[in-house]
Amino acid sequence: MAIREIIRMGHPVLREKARPVREDEIKSGDLCRLVDDMIETLDDAGGIGLAAPQVGVGLQVAILNMPEGANRYGHFEAIPLTVCINPRMTTLDETRLEGYWEGCLSVPGLRGFVKRPQSLRLDYTDMDGVARQIEFNGFHATVCQHELDHLDGVLYVDRITDSRLLMFEEEFMRFVQPQGVQELSD
Ligand code: NI
Repeated sequence: MAIREIIRMGHPVLREKARPVREDEIKSGDLCRLVDDMIETLDDAGGIGLAAPQVGVGLQVAILNMPEGANRYGHFEAIPLTVCINPRMTTLDETRLEGYWEGCLSVPGLRGFVKRPQSLRLDYTDMDGVARQIEFNGFHATVCQHELDHLDGVLYVDRITDSRLLMFEEEFMRFVQPQGVQELSD
């Protein structure tokens, strides 16, 4: 396993659509190595989600991992380590939007407020090639959409509707966080 470099906003790979993983690639050494490295890279960076394009690989692979009792997310239920290959999401309720302060390992030092649907179903293939389905609600739905956006070349900053709600992390901590807002950093 190895920690890979996380590429930052401005790198063209972050703006490309990732291609689906082929069936014959699913249990391959290359894909296993990629996923192992992504898990280690995410752990090292202290995030809760990472998509393959963020390590410069244009494949439809995303991982989520929100440990139990992580201080910053302590008031949310944990998401166990989930490796999603070729994920597809279906929004279950378009009308209910909720906003969170998002951050991104590829956009370091910034926070922005994004509203997204709060109920979705995720269909994906796991590392054994088995088709799986999970429902995500609330904050978890936001985390999931943020990661899937990376596979479409979309960054959370594209989804900010009020650019006054994009700011440096330091100013966010100083002026916004004391008001007790919910944040998400991956
Ligand atoms: Ni991100």
